[in-house]
Amino acid sequence: MKLGIRGKLFFLSLAMLAVAVLVLDAYVSSALRASIEDRMADDLHVRCQLVRDAAGGVPVADAPAKASALARTALVRVTLIDREGRVVGDSEVEPGQLSGVENHRDRPEVREALAEGSGVAHRASSTIHHPLLYVAERVDVPGPIAVVRLAVSLAPVEAAVGRARHLLAVGTAIAIVVAAALSSLGAHLVTRPLRELRDAAAAMTGDLAVRTRVRSDDEAGALGTALDQLADNLSRSLERLARERDRLGAVLETMDDGVLVTAADGTIVLANAAVRDLLGARDVLDGRTPLEVARSAELAELLDDVARTRAAASREIETATPVARRLRVRATPLAGDGAPGVVAVLSDVTELRRLETMRRDFVANVSHELRTPIAAIRAAAETLEGGALADPDAARDFVAIVARHGARLHQLVEDLLDLSRIEAQRLELRLEPVTAVAALDHVVALNALAAERHRVVLRRGACPESALVRADRRALDQVLGNLIDNAVKYGGVGCAITLGASVVGDDVALSVADTGPGIAPEHLPRLFERFYRVDRGRSRDVGGTGLGLAIVKHLAEAMGGRVSVTSAVGAGTTFIVHLPSARLAPALEASDAQHAHKP
Ligand SMILES: Nc1ncnc2c1ncn2[C@@H]1O[C@H](COP(=O)(O)OP(=O)(O)O)[C@@H](O)[C@H]1O
Ligand SMILES: [Mg+2]
Repeated sequence: MKLGIRGKLFFLSLAMLAVAVLVLDAYVSSALRASIEDRMADDLHVRCQLVRDAAGGVPVADAPAKASALARTALVRVTLIDREGRVVGDSEVEPGQLSGVENHRDRPEVREALAEGSGVAHRASSTIHHPLLYVAERVDVPGPIAVVRLAVSLAPVEAAVGRARHLLAVGTAIAIVVAAALSSLGAHLVTRPLRELRDAAAAMTGDLAVRTRVRSDDEAGALGTALDQLADNLSRSLERLARERDRLGAVLETMDDGVLVTAADGTIVLANAAVRDLLGARDVLDGRTPLEVARSAELAELLDDVARTRAAASREIETATPVARRLRVRATPLAGDGAPGVVAVLSDVTELRRLETMRRDFVANVSHELRTPIAAIRAAAETLEGGALADPDAARDFVAIVARHGARLHQLVEDLLDLSRIEAQRLELRLEPVTAVAALDHVVALNALAAERHRVVLRRGACPESALVRADRRALDQVLGNLIDNAVKYGGVGCAITLGASVVGDDVALSVADTGPGIAPEHLPRLFERFYRVDRGRSRDVGGTGLGLAIVKHLAEAMGGRVSVTSAVGAGTTFIVHLPSARLAPALEASDAQHAHKP
């Protein structure tokens, strides 16, 4: 059985009470008995002396009558004993039976009286079988009677002790009831703060805001204060941890790099938004494996290697979903026993690698482009040196070659400078509302001569008068000029070039369409790359640098627009430049129309 503090206290007080009562009972009954018996013995002595004085010198024959007479006076049993220890008179024995009474010489009180003058003893009488107190006195006067003995029943003593014990029992019963009540009350009072502490502690396990209300000055109060402090510290620590977790979570979620953490069993336990983005996973990744999520054996292998060798490693991997990407993965084992978890940081290096490749290609391309005209110029110069100068006709031809390639070099350098200016965003664009009609008419006029020379028809087609773009005039001229230049050069004799404009939503689409040979679809995606040409020889023949469309694309984007191309082989090509449209006040429109031809 489990006892609470109340039960224990109750049983403890009960046990204390029992011990006290037992001790008290033993002490009271023996002390009471002794004191009553002492008093009875004293009293009996006095009477015994009186009886002795009266019985001294009485002859044996008168002894029984004398004993009875004295017993009546002294109100006790009187026994008269001669020198041989024979009972010669006894108030409670018939005179005829005196001879049958045992010799009393050896009775302790008689022996004591004979030896010392008086004696006391108590025992159960052999004749009447209940405890008796005996007192004997030696008779010193001459005569047959040697000892006078008085006996009195001890039954009243036992009765008195019994009464006292009865009282004690009643008192004990009352005490038990009172003690039970008091101990119960005491236990209740003592354990109340403990119960409150227990309830508060139990509540704290669910809600750390709970506090104990025990404020007493004792141990319970101290325990309550300690508990409250514990809860305070715990909730502060939890709060701090939560704040740190939130902060770290926010940092992780806003990182561009993906962070992926796997547990010892290889499943993902943490993945930030960048990882989901990089791996094209939409749902929660926790609990799944990197292989399932990324569908990249390379990534899974790297993470496995790191977990197995417990050494950090990094590798570039290719992923196919959601788009082809090159990811640099740096993986580090996490501390721990057994197979460790791994934390992997994924950086998207697709663009970096693409730019690196582009730069390499660009340098190679530029060198290549420069080599041809330089070689031609050097060859012409050497030929002139070698004697061609003497022949004026030949000299003119060679000088013309030098001039043509010089012009090409010049064009190449100009285009490169343009491109680098645009890319470095050092091109200062003045974006302003420009009416589309004016802009188109302007470039048509600028290129009219070239068109005529190449025997192509250049004209402006449909264009809403109100169409207005936000653009830099010079950049716009350059964009449209480049497109017209291409159409003129690659369109071929008899080709028709039509410029047009239309409003598409918030944009104005400016188009340059030709009826030339068109461009095969496989070239279209790369057409706007630097140095990309459909037909390298043809481009060189017409003095192209391969940079025109790259410049067009960059300029269009710098003005907040974009450029697109559609083409059908044999039917012609259409370039469309989308630029944001500009809404403007009527006054501005008027001034804009005036300035349109003066870029
Ligand atoms: N209107 C067009 N019709 C046919 N091919 C074209 C047209 N415009 C451009 N191209 C092709 O696109 C290539 C890239 O043009 P561009 O960047 O202007 O370089 P470039 O004119 O210096 O060769 C040209 O070499 C040509 O093959
Ligand atoms: Mg061109």
